[in-house]
Amino acid sequence: MKTFYITTPIYYPSANLHIGHAYCTTIADAIARYKRLDGFDVFFLTGSDEHGQKIQRSAQAQGKSPLEYVDPIVESFKDLWTKFHISNDDFIRTSEPRHEKVVQEIFRRIQANGDIYKGEYTGLYCTPCESYWTELQLDENGCCPDCHRPVEKVSEEAYFFRLSKYADKLLQHIEEHPEFIVPTSRRNEMINFIRRGLEDLCISRTSFDWGIPVPDDPRHVIYVWFDAVINYITPLIHNEDMKRFWPADIHLVGKEIVRFHTIIWPAMLMAAGLPLPKQIYGHGWLVTDTGKMSKSVGNVVDPVLLVEEFGADAIRYFLLREITLGLDGNFSRDALIARINADLANDLGNLLHRTLNMIGKFQQGTLLPATDGTELDQSFRAQALDTVREYRRLMDDVQLSDAVKVVWKFIGRANKYIDETMPWKLAKDPAQRQQLANVLYNLAESLRIVSVLIEPFMPDTAQKIRAQLNVTSKPKLDDAQTFGLLEANHVVGKPEQLFPRILTDK
Ligand code: MSP
Repeated sequence: MKTFYITTPIYYPSANLHIGHAYCTTIADAIARYKRLDGFDVFFLTGSDEHGQKIQRSAQAQGKSPLEYVDPIVESFKDLWTKFHISNDDFIRTSEPRHEKVVQEIFRRIQANGDIYKGEYTGLYCTPCESYWTELQLDENGCCPDCHRPVEKVSEEAYFFRLSKYADKLLQHIEEHPEFIVPTSRRNEMINFIRRGLEDLCISRTSFDWGIPVPDDPRHVIYVWFDAVINYITPLIHNEDMKRFWPADIHLVGKEIVRFHTIIWPAMLMAAGLPLPKQIYGHGWLVTDTGKMSKSVGNVVDPVLLVEEFGADAIRYFLLREITLGLDGNFSRDALIARINADLANDLGNLLHRTLNMIGKFQQGTLLPATDGTELDQSFRAQALDTVREYRRLMDDVQLSDAVKVVWKFIGRANKYIDETMPWKLAKDPAQRQQLANVLYNLAESLRIVSVLIEPFMPDTAQKIRAQLNVTSKPKLDDAQTFGLLEANHVVGKPEQLFPRILTDK
Protein backbone atom coordinates (compact mmCIF):
# COMPACT_ATOMS: atom_id res chain seq x y z
CA MET A 1 0.00 0.00 0.00
CA LYS A 2 1.22 3.51 -0.75
CA THR A 3 2.12 5.38 2.43
CA PHE A 4 2.36 9.04 3.34
CA TYR A 5 3.80 10.68 6.44
CA ILE A 6 3.14 14.33 7.29
CA THR A 7 3.98 16.32 10.41
CA THR A 8 3.23 19.73 11.89
CA PRO A 9 5.67 21.40 14.26
CA ILE A 10 5.08 20.50 17.87
CA TYR A 11 3.73 23.56 19.63
CA TYR A 12 5.10 25.25 22.74
CA PRO A 13 2.65 25.02 25.60
CA SER A 14 3.80 28.40 26.83
CA ALA A 15 0.59 30.11 25.84
CA ASN A 16 -2.73 29.26 24.38
CA LEU A 17 -2.75 28.60 20.70
CA HIS A 18 -4.02 31.23 18.31
CA ILE A 19 -5.50 31.00 14.86
CA GLY A 20 -1.97 31.19 13.35
CA HIS A 21 -1.17 27.79 14.90
CA ALA A 22 -4.51 26.43 13.74
CA TYR A 23 -3.58 27.57 10.23
CA CYS A 24 -0.53 25.30 10.15
CA THR A 25 -2.40 22.31 11.55
CA THR A 26 -5.33 22.83 9.17
CA ILE A 27 -3.03 22.75 6.15
CA ALA A 28 -1.43 19.53 7.34
CA ASP A 29 -4.85 18.05 8.03
CA ALA A 30 -6.13 18.93 4.56
CA ILE A 31 -3.10 17.26 2.98
CA ALA A 32 -3.44 14.18 5.20
CA ARG A 33 -7.14 13.85 4.40
CA TYR A 34 -6.50 14.27 0.68
CA LYS A 35 -3.93 11.47 0.74
CA ARG A 36 -6.34 9.20 2.61
CA LEU A 37 -9.01 9.96 0.00
CA ASP A 38 -6.46 8.96 -2.60
CA GLY A 39 -5.94 5.56 -0.98
CA PHE A 40 -2.69 6.25 0.91
CA ASP A 41 -1.97 4.74 4.28
CA VAL A 42 -1.37 8.03 6.11
CA PHE A 43 0.44 8.86 9.31
CA PHE A 44 -0.21 12.40 10.50
CA LEU A 45 1.66 13.59 13.57
CA THR A 46 1.34 16.68 15.73
CA GLY A 47 2.15 17.35 19.38
CA SER A 48 3.62 19.60 22.04
CA ASP A 49 7.17 20.77 22.67
CA GLU A 50 7.34 20.93 26.44
CA HIS A 51 10.92 21.31 27.64
CA GLY A 52 13.21 24.29 28.10
CA GLN A 53 13.97 27.18 30.35
CA LYS A 54 11.05 29.27 29.23
CA ILE A 55 8.50 26.66 30.34
CA GLN A 56 10.38 26.07 33.58
CA ARG A 57 10.31 29.80 34.35
CA SER A 58 6.63 30.15 33.50
CA ALA A 59 5.80 27.20 35.75
CA GLN A 60 7.88 28.64 38.62
CA ALA A 61 6.13 31.97 38.27
CA GLN A 62 2.86 30.16 38.94
CA GLY A 63 4.28 28.04 41.75
CA LYS A 64 3.80 24.87 39.74
CA SER A 65 6.00 22.05 38.53
CA PRO A 66 6.61 22.16 34.75
CA LEU A 67 4.28 19.21 34.21
CA GLU A 68 1.53 20.68 36.37
CA TYR A 69 1.90 23.82 34.31
CA VAL A 70 1.85 22.21 30.85
CA ASP A 71 -0.70 19.43 31.37
CA PRO A 72 -3.85 21.58 31.13
CA ILE A 73 -2.39 23.59 28.25
CA VAL A 74 -1.65 20.43 26.29
CA GLU A 75 -5.21 19.25 26.97
CA SER A 76 -6.48 22.52 25.53
CA PHE A 77 -4.39 21.88 22.37
CA LYS A 78 -5.99 18.47 21.99
CA ASP A 79 -9.47 19.95 22.48
CA LEU A 80 -8.77 22.59 19.90
CA TRP A 81 -7.68 20.02 17.33
CA THR A 82 -10.83 18.01 17.96
CA LYS A 83 -12.92 21.15 17.47
CA PHE A 84 -11.08 21.83 14.19
CA HIS A 85 -11.71 18.25 12.94
CA ILE A 86 -7.97 17.59 12.90
CA SER A 87 -7.40 13.95 12.02
CA ASN A 88 -3.95 13.38 13.51
CA ASP A 89 -2.99 9.74 14.04
CA ASP A 90 -0.78 10.38 17.05
CA PHE A 91 -0.05 13.25 19.42
CA ILE A 92 3.46 13.36 20.76
CA ARG A 93 4.38 15.09 24.00
CA THR A 94 8.11 15.55 24.42
CA SER A 95 7.68 14.93 28.16
CA GLU A 96 6.57 11.34 27.48
CA PRO A 97 8.96 8.52 28.43
CA ARG A 98 8.79 7.09 24.88
CA HIS A 99 10.26 10.34 23.58
CA GLU A 100 12.94 10.70 26.27
CA LYS A 101 14.13 7.19 25.46
CA VAL A 102 14.48 7.88 21.73
CA VAL A 103 16.21 11.25 22.26
CA GLN A 104 18.79 9.61 24.50
CA GLU A 105 19.30 6.81 22.00
CA ILE A 106 19.88 9.25 19.16
CA PHE A 107 22.23 11.28 21.37
CA ARG A 108 24.27 8.16 22.14
CA ARG A 109 24.30 7.11 18.52
CA ILE A 110 25.64 10.47 17.33
CA GLN A 111 28.11 10.52 20.24
CA ALA A 112 29.35 7.05 19.30
CA ASN A 113 29.88 8.30 15.75
CA GLY A 114 32.14 11.03 17.13
CA ASP A 115 29.86 13.94 16.31
CA ILE A 116 29.06 14.99 19.89
CA TYR A 117 31.87 16.29 22.09
CA LYS A 118 32.22 18.20 25.34
CA GLY A 119 33.47 21.80 25.33
CA GLU A 120 32.95 25.24 26.80
CA TYR A 121 30.14 27.39 25.56
CA THR A 122 30.07 31.16 25.67
CA GLY A 123 27.31 32.61 23.66
CA LEU A 124 24.17 34.59 23.29
CA TYR A 125 20.92 32.88 24.06
CA CYS A 126 17.38 33.99 23.32
CA THR A 127 15.19 32.34 25.93
CA PRO A 128 11.78 33.00 24.28
CA CYS A 129 13.02 31.40 21.02
CA GLU A 130 15.26 28.81 22.72
CA SER A 131 17.93 29.78 20.18
CA TYR A 132 21.62 30.49 20.34
CA TRP A 133 22.98 33.29 18.18
CA THR A 134 26.38 34.64 17.23
CA GLU A 135 27.20 38.37 17.39
CA LEU A 136 26.94 38.56 13.62
CA GLN A 137 23.43 37.18 13.57
CA LEU A 138 21.92 39.67 16.03
CA ASP A 139 19.65 42.43 14.76
CA GLU A 140 20.70 46.08 14.56
CA ASN A 141 19.89 46.58 18.26
CA GLY A 142 21.95 43.59 19.34
CA CYS A 143 18.77 41.57 19.98
CA CYS A 144 17.42 38.23 18.76
CA PRO A 145 17.02 38.42 14.95
CA ASP A 146 13.73 36.46 15.17
CA CYS A 147 11.77 38.01 18.03
CA HIS A 148 13.91 41.14 18.59
CA ARG A 149 14.04 40.65 22.34
CA PRO A 150 17.31 40.91 24.34
CA VAL A 151 19.65 37.92 24.35
CA GLU A 152 21.59 36.69 27.41
CA LYS A 153 25.33 35.97 27.50
CA VAL A 154 25.91 32.48 28.89
CA SER A 155 29.13 30.60 29.59
CA GLU A 156 29.16 26.98 30.68
CA GLU A 157 30.55 23.51 30.07
CA ALA A 158 28.44 21.97 27.34
CA TYR A 159 28.08 19.27 24.76
CA PHE A 160 28.41 20.22 21.12
CA PHE A 161 27.08 18.70 17.95
CA ARG A 162 29.58 18.78 15.09
CA LEU A 163 27.25 20.66 12.74
CA SER A 164 30.15 22.32 10.89
CA LYS A 165 31.18 18.94 9.51
CA TYR A 166 27.91 18.60 7.61
CA ALA A 167 27.84 21.91 5.72
CA ASP A 168 29.11 20.50 2.42
CA LYS A 169 27.00 17.35 2.59
CA LEU A 170 23.91 19.44 3.34
CA LEU A 171 24.58 21.81 0.48
CA GLN A 172 25.07 18.90 -1.86
CA HIS A 173 21.81 17.30 -0.71
CA ILE A 174 19.87 20.55 -1.12
CA GLU A 175 21.33 21.11 -4.57
CA GLU A 176 20.65 17.57 -5.74
CA HIS A 177 17.09 17.55 -4.37
CA PRO A 178 15.28 20.72 -5.50
CA GLU A 179 12.11 19.47 -3.81
CA PHE A 180 13.81 19.16 -0.40
CA ILE A 181 13.08 22.75 0.67
CA VAL A 182 10.03 24.54 -0.68
CA PRO A 183 9.19 27.22 -1.63
CA THR A 184 12.29 28.23 -3.57
CA SER A 185 12.67 31.50 -1.67
CA ARG A 186 13.24 29.50 1.55
CA ARG A 187 15.58 27.14 -0.25
CA ASN A 188 17.73 30.05 -1.43
CA GLU A 189 17.81 31.54 2.08
CA MET A 190 19.07 28.24 3.49
CA ILE A 191 21.69 27.79 0.79
CA ASN A 192 23.02 31.28 1.58
CA PHE A 193 22.93 30.55 5.30
CA ILE A 194 25.01 27.37 4.90
CA ARG A 195 27.44 29.04 2.49
CA ARG A 196 28.30 31.59 5.21
CA GLY A 197 29.61 28.59 7.18
CA LEU A 198 28.10 26.51 9.97
CA GLU A 199 29.38 26.51 13.53
CA ASP A 200 29.11 23.53 15.83
CA LEU A 201 25.91 23.64 17.84
CA CYS A 202 25.74 23.74 21.61
CA ILE A 203 23.24 21.05 22.54
CA SER A 204 23.20 20.97 26.33
CA ARG A 205 22.57 23.30 29.25
CA THR A 206 23.36 23.09 32.95
CA SER A 207 21.61 26.24 34.16
CA PHE A 208 18.19 24.60 34.47
CA ASP A 209 16.89 21.05 34.62
CA TRP A 210 13.55 20.87 32.80
CA GLY A 211 14.64 18.77 29.88
CA ILE A 212 15.92 15.36 28.86
CA PRO A 213 19.15 14.48 30.72
CA VAL A 214 22.29 13.84 28.69
CA PRO A 215 22.95 10.08 28.90
CA ASP A 216 25.52 9.33 31.65
CA ASP A 217 25.87 13.03 32.51
CA PRO A 218 22.52 14.10 34.00
CA ARG A 219 23.83 17.47 35.19
CA HIS A 220 23.23 18.51 31.59
CA VAL A 221 19.87 18.67 29.89
CA ILE A 222 19.59 18.37 26.13
CA TYR A 223 18.94 21.57 24.16
CA VAL A 224 15.24 21.84 23.46
CA TRP A 225 15.51 22.00 19.65
CA PHE A 226 17.75 18.91 19.54
CA ASP A 227 15.11 17.17 21.67
CA ALA A 228 12.10 18.55 19.75
CA VAL A 229 12.97 17.59 16.18
CA ILE A 230 13.48 13.99 17.24
CA ASN A 231 9.71 13.83 17.93
CA TYR A 232 9.25 13.10 14.23
CA ILE A 233 10.76 9.65 14.61
CA THR A 234 9.76 8.86 18.20
CA PRO A 235 6.50 7.09 17.35
CA LEU A 236 8.12 5.07 14.55
CA ILE A 237 11.61 4.05 15.41
CA HIS A 238 10.87 1.02 17.54
CA ASN A 239 8.32 -0.64 15.31
CA GLU A 240 7.44 -1.60 11.77
CA ASP A 241 6.17 1.93 11.12
CA MET A 242 9.74 3.15 10.68
CA LYS A 243 9.98 1.10 7.49
CA ARG A 244 6.52 2.14 6.38
CA PHE A 245 6.63 5.86 7.07
CA TRP A 246 10.21 7.06 7.33
CA PRO A 247 11.50 9.17 5.64
CA ALA A 248 8.65 11.63 6.17
CA ASP A 249 7.01 12.95 3.03
CA ILE A 250 6.42 16.46 4.36
CA HIS A 251 7.49 18.33 7.46
CA LEU A 252 5.20 21.33 7.33
CA VAL A 253 6.67 24.23 9.32
CA GLY A 254 6.38 28.01 9.64
CA LYS A 255 9.00 29.99 7.77
CA GLU A 256 10.89 31.10 10.90
CA ILE A 257 11.74 27.52 11.85
CA VAL A 258 12.81 26.29 8.43
CA ARG A 259 16.45 26.63 9.52
CA PHE A 260 16.06 24.07 12.32
CA HIS A 261 14.35 21.64 9.97
CA THR A 262 16.56 21.96 6.92
CA ILE A 263 19.97 22.30 8.55
CA ILE A 264 20.11 21.03 12.13
CA TRP A 265 17.64 18.15 11.81
CA PRO A 266 19.05 16.74 8.55
CA ALA A 267 22.59 17.00 9.92
CA MET A 268 21.49 15.11 13.04
CA LEU A 269 19.92 12.43 10.87
CA MET A 270 23.09 12.15 8.78
CA ALA A 271 25.14 11.81 11.95
CA ALA A 272 22.76 9.13 13.25
CA GLY A 273 22.87 7.26 9.93
CA LEU A 274 19.18 7.78 9.16
CA PRO A 275 17.57 8.88 5.87
CA LEU A 276 16.49 12.52 5.47
CA PRO A 277 12.86 13.66 5.15
CA LYS A 278 11.74 14.10 1.56
CA GLN A 279 10.45 17.63 1.93
CA ILE A 280 10.35 20.56 4.31
CA TYR A 281 7.60 22.97 3.41
CA GLY A 282 7.97 26.46 4.90
CA HIS A 283 4.59 28.15 5.04
CA GLY A 284 3.98 31.86 5.57
CA TRP A 285 2.40 33.58 8.55
CA LEU A 286 -1.08 34.60 9.26
CA VAL A 287 -0.90 38.33 9.77
CA THR A 288 -3.33 41.05 10.74
CA ASP A 289 -3.14 44.74 10.02
CA THR A 290 -0.75 44.95 13.00
CA GLY A 291 1.72 42.32 11.73
CA LYS A 292 2.36 38.65 12.52
CA MET A 293 -0.16 37.31 14.93
CA SER A 294 1.60 36.74 18.21
CA LYS A 295 0.85 36.95 21.89
CA SER A 296 3.52 39.56 22.56
CA VAL A 297 2.03 41.92 19.96
CA GLY A 298 -1.43 41.36 21.43
CA ASN A 299 -3.18 40.85 18.09
CA VAL A 300 -4.07 37.19 18.44
CA VAL A 301 -7.40 35.78 17.36
CA ASP A 302 -8.69 33.06 19.67
CA PRO A 303 -9.53 29.99 17.60
CA VAL A 304 -11.93 28.56 20.19
CA LEU A 305 -14.16 31.65 20.12
CA LEU A 306 -13.96 31.69 16.34
CA VAL A 307 -15.05 28.06 16.05
CA GLU A 308 -17.91 28.67 18.45
CA GLU A 309 -19.07 31.59 16.39
CA PHE A 310 -18.62 30.35 12.82
CA GLY A 311 -17.97 26.59 12.98
CA ALA A 312 -14.71 24.84 12.15
CA ASP A 313 -15.43 24.20 8.48
CA ALA A 314 -16.00 27.86 7.65
CA ILE A 315 -12.68 28.81 9.25
CA ARG A 316 -10.86 25.93 7.60
CA TYR A 317 -12.31 27.01 4.27
CA PHE A 318 -11.21 30.58 4.81
CA LEU A 319 -7.65 29.66 5.82
CA LEU A 320 -7.17 27.22 2.96
CA ARG A 321 -8.81 29.38 0.31
CA GLU A 322 -7.50 32.86 1.21
CA ILE A 323 -3.85 32.16 1.83
CA THR A 324 -1.49 30.90 -0.82
CA LEU A 325 0.69 28.31 0.84
CA GLY A 326 4.18 29.70 1.31
CA LEU A 327 3.12 33.35 1.43
CA ASP A 328 1.87 35.43 4.35
CA GLY A 329 -1.86 35.90 4.43
CA ASN A 330 -4.16 38.37 6.05
CA PHE A 331 -6.75 37.34 8.57
CA SER A 332 -9.73 39.58 9.10
CA ARG A 333 -13.17 38.98 10.48
CA ASP A 334 -14.80 40.95 7.68
CA ALA A 335 -13.05 38.88 5.02
CA LEU A 336 -14.08 35.67 6.81
CA ILE A 337 -17.73 36.74 6.92
CA ALA A 338 -17.63 37.82 3.28
CA ARG A 339 -16.34 34.37 2.25
CA ILE A 340 -18.90 32.54 4.36
CA ASN A 341 -21.75 34.52 2.83
CA ALA A 342 -20.57 34.43 -0.78
CA ASP A 343 -18.91 31.04 -1.17
CA LEU A 344 -20.51 28.86 1.47
CA ALA A 345 -24.04 30.15 2.13
CA ASN A 346 -24.58 31.35 -1.42
CA ASP A 347 -22.63 29.27 -3.93
CA LEU A 348 -22.41 25.89 -2.22
CA GLY A 349 -25.44 26.15 0.07
CA ASN A 350 -27.75 27.31 -2.71
CA LEU A 351 -26.57 24.67 -5.15
CA LEU A 352 -27.39 21.92 -2.70
CA HIS A 353 -30.65 23.48 -1.61
CA ARG A 354 -31.95 24.22 -5.10
CA THR A 355 -30.98 20.79 -6.39
CA LEU A 356 -32.59 18.78 -3.60
CA ASN A 357 -35.58 21.04 -3.54
CA MET A 358 -36.23 20.50 -7.26
CA ILE A 359 -35.68 16.75 -7.08
CA GLY A 360 -38.22 16.71 -4.23
CA LYS A 361 -40.73 18.91 -5.96
CA PHE A 362 -40.55 17.59 -9.53
CA GLN A 363 -39.63 13.91 -9.03
CA GLN A 364 -40.74 13.13 -5.47
CA GLY A 365 -37.14 13.02 -4.29
CA THR A 366 -36.13 10.27 -6.74
CA LEU A 367 -33.49 10.37 -9.44
CA LEU A 368 -34.73 8.97 -12.75
CA PRO A 369 -32.60 7.21 -15.40
CA ALA A 370 -30.60 9.78 -17.36
CA THR A 371 -29.57 9.81 -21.01
CA ASP A 372 -26.67 11.58 -22.71
CA GLY A 373 -28.81 14.69 -23.05
CA THR A 374 -28.00 17.87 -24.88
CA GLU A 375 -24.63 19.29 -25.80
CA LEU A 376 -24.86 21.52 -22.75
CA ASP A 377 -25.40 18.49 -20.47
CA GLN A 378 -22.44 16.72 -22.01
CA SER A 379 -20.13 19.67 -21.69
CA PHE A 380 -21.27 20.15 -18.08
CA ARG A 381 -20.38 16.55 -17.26
CA ALA A 382 -17.02 16.93 -19.01
CA GLN A 383 -16.37 20.02 -16.91
CA ALA A 384 -17.01 18.06 -13.73
CA LEU A 385 -14.37 15.53 -14.71
CA ASP A 386 -11.94 18.23 -15.86
CA THR A 387 -12.37 19.81 -12.43
CA VAL A 388 -11.44 16.57 -10.73
CA ARG A 389 -8.33 16.20 -12.89
CA GLU A 390 -7.21 19.76 -12.25
CA TYR A 391 -7.97 19.43 -8.53
CA ARG A 392 -5.79 16.30 -8.33
CA ARG A 393 -2.92 17.98 -10.12
CA LEU A 394 -3.05 20.93 -7.75
CA MET A 395 -3.49 18.86 -4.59
CA ASP A 396 -0.64 16.56 -5.59
CA ASP A 397 1.45 19.70 -5.92
CA VAL A 398 0.22 21.01 -2.52
CA GLN A 399 -1.38 24.06 -4.13
CA LEU A 400 -4.29 24.00 -1.75
CA SER A 401 -5.82 27.41 -2.32
CA ASP A 402 -5.82 26.93 -6.09
CA ALA A 403 -7.46 23.53 -5.63
CA VAL A 404 -10.21 25.13 -3.52
CA LYS A 405 -10.70 27.78 -6.20
CA VAL A 406 -11.04 25.15 -8.93
CA VAL A 407 -13.79 23.39 -6.98
CA TRP A 408 -15.64 26.67 -6.42
CA LYS A 409 -15.37 27.55 -10.07
CA PHE A 410 -17.19 24.32 -10.81
CA ILE A 411 -19.80 25.06 -8.13
CA GLY A 412 -20.37 28.38 -9.89
CA ARG A 413 -20.68 26.52 -13.18
CA ALA A 414 -23.27 24.18 -11.68
CA ASN A 415 -25.38 27.08 -10.42
CA LYS A 416 -25.21 28.59 -13.89
CA TYR A 417 -26.25 25.24 -15.39
CA ILE A 418 -29.46 25.49 -13.33
CA ASP A 419 -30.12 28.98 -14.67
CA GLU A 420 -29.42 27.86 -18.24
CA THR A 421 -31.49 24.67 -18.18
CA MET A 422 -34.36 26.13 -16.09
CA PRO A 423 -35.67 22.84 -14.65
CA TRP A 424 -38.85 24.63 -13.40
CA LYS A 425 -39.75 25.31 -17.04
CA LEU A 426 -38.91 21.76 -18.11
CA ALA A 427 -41.18 20.49 -15.32
CA LYS A 428 -44.17 22.24 -16.86
CA ASP A 429 -43.80 20.45 -20.19
CA PRO A 430 -44.52 16.67 -20.22
CA ALA A 431 -42.47 16.33 -23.43
CA GLN A 432 -39.39 17.48 -21.47
CA ARG A 433 -39.55 14.87 -18.70
CA GLN A 434 -36.43 13.05 -19.87
CA GLN A 435 -34.55 16.32 -20.13
CA LEU A 436 -35.66 17.27 -16.63
CA ALA A 437 -34.44 13.88 -15.34
CA ASN A 438 -31.09 14.45 -17.05
CA VAL A 439 -30.54 17.89 -15.54
CA LEU A 440 -31.51 16.84 -12.02
CA TYR A 441 -29.36 13.72 -12.26
CA ASN A 442 -26.35 15.75 -13.45
CA LEU A 443 -26.79 18.19 -10.59
CA ALA A 444 -27.03 15.45 -7.95
CA GLU A 445 -23.96 13.73 -9.38
CA SER A 446 -22.03 17.00 -9.36
CA LEU A 447 -22.85 17.49 -5.71
CA ARG A 448 -21.73 13.95 -4.94
CA ILE A 449 -18.42 14.69 -6.66
CA VAL A 450 -18.09 18.04 -4.87
CA SER A 451 -18.67 16.26 -1.54
CA VAL A 452 -15.60 14.13 -2.23
CA LEU A 453 -13.41 17.02 -3.36
CA ILE A 454 -14.15 19.23 -0.36
CA GLU A 455 -13.65 16.50 2.24
CA PRO A 456 -10.02 17.54 2.90
CA PHE A 457 -11.06 21.17 3.41
CA MET A 458 -14.43 20.84 5.11
CA PRO A 459 -14.93 17.29 6.40
CA ASP A 460 -18.09 18.06 8.34
CA THR A 461 -19.77 19.83 5.43
CA ALA A 462 -18.75 17.06 3.03
CA GLN A 463 -20.47 14.61 5.35
CA LYS A 464 -23.60 16.78 5.63
CA ILE A 465 -23.88 16.99 1.85
CA ARG A 466 -23.48 13.23 1.52
CA ALA A 467 -26.12 12.68 4.19
CA GLN A 468 -28.57 14.97 2.38
CA LEU A 469 -27.83 13.21 -0.90
CA ASN A 470 -28.37 9.96 0.97
CA VAL A 471 -24.93 8.65 -0.04
CA THR A 472 -23.66 6.30 2.64
CA SER A 473 -20.28 5.16 1.26
CA LYS A 474 -17.01 6.62 2.57
CA PRO A 475 -15.69 9.34 0.23
CA LYS A 476 -12.94 8.14 -2.13
CA LEU A 477 -11.11 10.07 -4.79
CA ASP A 478 -11.66 7.27 -7.30
CA ASP A 479 -15.40 7.80 -6.92
CA ALA A 480 -15.05 11.41 -7.99
CA GLN A 481 -13.44 10.41 -11.26
CA THR A 482 -16.52 8.75 -12.64
CA PHE A 483 -19.65 10.62 -13.54
CA GLY A 484 -22.76 8.47 -13.08
CA LEU A 485 -22.27 6.49 -9.90
CA LEU A 486 -25.61 7.45 -8.34
CA GLU A 487 -28.12 4.78 -9.28
CA ALA A 488 -31.24 5.66 -11.21
CA ASN A 489 -34.14 5.55 -8.71
CA HIS A 490 -31.81 6.67 -5.92
CA VAL A 491 -33.83 8.61 -3.36
CA VAL A 492 -32.27 11.80 -2.01
CA GLY A 493 -32.99 13.47 1.32
CA LYS A 494 -34.57 16.78 2.15
CA PRO A 495 -32.53 19.98 1.84
CA GLU A 496 -31.22 21.47 5.05
CA GLN A 497 -29.30 24.70 5.32
CA LEU A 498 -25.52 24.16 5.32
CA PHE A 499 -24.37 27.67 6.26
CA PRO A 500 -26.65 30.43 7.48
CA ARG A 501 -25.91 33.86 6.05
CA ILE A 502 -24.18 36.06 8.56
CA LEU A 503 -25.78 39.44 8.99
CA THR A 504 -23.48 42.33 9.70
CA ASP A 505 -24.16 45.95 10.54
CA LYS A 506 -22.95 46.86 7.09
N1 MSP B 1 8.14 24.31 19.33
C1 MSP B 1 8.62 24.89 18.12
C2 MSP B 1 8.54 23.91 16.97
C3 MSP B 1 9.32 22.65 17.17
S1 MSP B 1 9.13 21.56 15.82
C4 MSP B 1 10.21 20.35 16.12
C5 MSP B 1 7.78 26.11 17.79
N2 MSP B 1 6.59 26.20 18.39
S2 MSP B 1 5.55 27.43 18.24
O1 MSP B 1 4.42 27.05 19.03
O2 MSP B 1 6.19 28.66 18.54
O3 MSP B 1 5.19 27.50 16.74
C6 MSP B 1 4.70 26.37 16.07
C7 MSP B 1 4.32 26.71 14.65
O4 MSP B 1 3.27 27.66 14.63
C8 MSP B 1 5.46 27.29 13.83
O5 MSP B 1 5.57 26.59 12.61
C9 MSP B 1 5.03 28.70 13.59
O6 MSP B 1 5.46 29.20 12.36
C10 MSP B 1 3.52 28.55 13.60
N3 MSP B 1 2.91 29.83 13.84
C11 MSP B 1 3.00 30.63 14.95
N4 MSP B 1 2.38 31.81 14.69
C12 MSP B 1 1.89 31.81 13.42
C13 MSP B 1 1.20 32.71 12.62
N5 MSP B 1 0.83 33.90 13.04
N6 MSP B 1 0.90 32.30 11.36
C14 MSP B 1 1.22 31.05 10.89
N7 MSP B 1 1.88 30.20 11.62
C15 MSP B 1 2.22 30.55 12.90
O7 MSP B 1 8.19 26.92 16.98
